[in-house]
Amino acid sequence: MEKYIARGYVSEIRNFGNLMFFILRDQYKKEQITFFKKDNPELFNKAKDITKESVIVVTGTKKASDQAMNGYEIIPENLDILSISDAPVPLDISGKIDSGFDARINYRYVDLRVPENLAIFKVRSKIVRAVTNFFDSKGFININTPKIVSCGVESGSELFEIKYFDKVAYLSQSPQVYKQMMIASGFNNVYEIGEVFRAEKSHTTRHLTEFTGIDMEMGYIKDPEEVYNVLEELMKYVLTEIKKECKQELELLKVEIKIPEKIPRIKMKDAKKLLAEKGKTIPAEEDLDSEGEKMLGDIVMEKFNSEFVFLTEFPFSKRPFYHMCEIDPETKQKITKSADLIWKGCEICTGAQREHRTSVLKEQIIEKGMSLEDMDYYIKMLSYGVPSHGGAGLGLDRITQLMLNLTNVKEAVLLPRDPERLTP
Ligand code: 4AD
Ligand code: MG
Repeated sequence: MEKYIARGYVSEIRNFGNLMFFILRDQYKKEQITFFKKDNPELFNKAKDITKESVIVVTGTKKASDQAMNGYEIIPENLDILSISDAPVPLDISGKIDSGFDARINYRYVDLRVPENLAIFKVRSKIVRAVTNFFDSKGFININTPKIVSCGVESGSELFEIKYFDKVAYLSQSPQVYKQMMIASGFNNVYEIGEVFRAEKSHTTRHLTEFTGIDMEMGYIKDPEEVYNVLEELMKYVLTEIKKECKQELELLKVEIKIPEKIPRIKMKDAKKLLAEKGKTIPAEEDLDSEGEKMLGDIVMEKFNSEFVFLTEFPFSKRPFYHMCEIDPETKQKITKSADLIWKGCEICTGAQREHRTSVLKEQIIEKGMSLEDMDYYIKMLSYGVPSHGGAGLGLDRITQLMLNLTNVKEAVLLPRDPERLTP
C-alpha cells in the first residue's frame, strides 16, 4: 500500500502517556497523527519532546476513524523533525486569546499561520487574478511604471522624499502621469497593479503609507460614464469569481458576498441633500468626511438596497488639476467629470475623465495655484497628439478589507506600513 505523507506545523499536542495525538496543520488542511506507545515506542519517544509549532514530516498509513477530525487519522511509521519551535510561541494560534494587533504584526510570520488570517491572503490572491483576467479579457495592457519619481501630481497626498545619489527623488504616490503617458503613447487601454506610497500621518482603519493600487486608464472615451461602467463590470466580475473560487475561505471567515446589480450614481450635490436630511451638513465646496461616507453608505442601502454607490460630480476645489471640468447649469459650480466608488460606506476608488486639451489644462493648473513651469513636462506629454481619456485608481487592500468585513485595512496587508511601523 502506498504510504501517506503528512507535513506541517504541530498545531495541537495531546499526550495521554501511552497514546498521543498531534494535529498537524499546513496551508490546506489540518489532520490528526496518532502515536501508540506500545506499537512503536521508539517513534513515540521521539515525538514526545516535540513542541507546538515545530515542523515535521510523517510517513504512515491513513486509517478511517470516527473520532478524528475529517474522519481519518494517520498512523505514523516514520517521523522527520524539520525544526523544533522555541516554546512558548509568542501568539495564540488557536485564535482563543486575542494577542493584540501590534503583537500580531510584530510576529506576523506566526500570526499568518492562523487559518483565518491565511484565508484573507488566499482571497486577496484570487482578487488579483480576477482583476488581471478581467482587464486582460478587455484588451488592457498590463504596465509597470517607475516608483522612483521626480515629482507628484495627487494634490493632498504627501510625498516621501528619498536620496537618489546626489539628487532628491520621491516614492510614487500614484501612477497617474505614466498611465496617461501610455495613452499618449498610443496604448488604447492600460492597467497596473503596483505599490503606491503616501506620506500621510493618518491613523485610521483605512489608511496605509504603502498600499497596492489597481490603476487603469482608457483612451477615446466620450464621457466618464464609460469608466464607471468598466469599474462596475470589474467589481461584479471580481465578486462573482471570489464567490465561486473561494467558497472554503468565505465560509471560514463567515462572509457572504452579494453581487451588485446596477450600481446607483448619486451626484455630490444630491448626496449632500440626502445627508442634510439626516442632520449632516457639508458645505458645497467640501468633500464628504469619513462619517459622511459611512452615512451615505447606509442611505444607499436603505434607498437602493445597494452596498455600492458612485458618488459623482465632485467640486473642482476638491479634485486634482487634471480632472476634466464642466459648469453645473443649476448651481453654476465648477464640477469635475469624476466619481468615487463607495462600498459599504468606504471609498474604494476614484475615477475621472482627464483634461487632455492643453489650453484648458493650463488654465486649471493656474487656478490651482500651481506653476506652469513645474507642470511643463505634463503639458508637453499631452502636446503631441493624445486621445480623450479617463481612468481610475482602486485600492486592493481596501477592496480585500471590505469584501471580508475586516475591521482594519492592515489585516488585508501582509506586512503593513503606517506612520509608526517600518518592521517587519
Ligand atoms: O483616491 P486616490 O488618491 O486616487 C488616485 O490616486 C488617482 N490617481 C486615481 C485616478 O485614476 N483618478 O487613490 C485611489 C484609491 C482610493 O480610492 C483608495 O481605495 C486607495 O486608492 N487609497 C488608499 N488605500 C490605503 N491607504 C491609503 N492611504 C490610500 N489612499 C488611497
Ligand atoms: Mg480618492
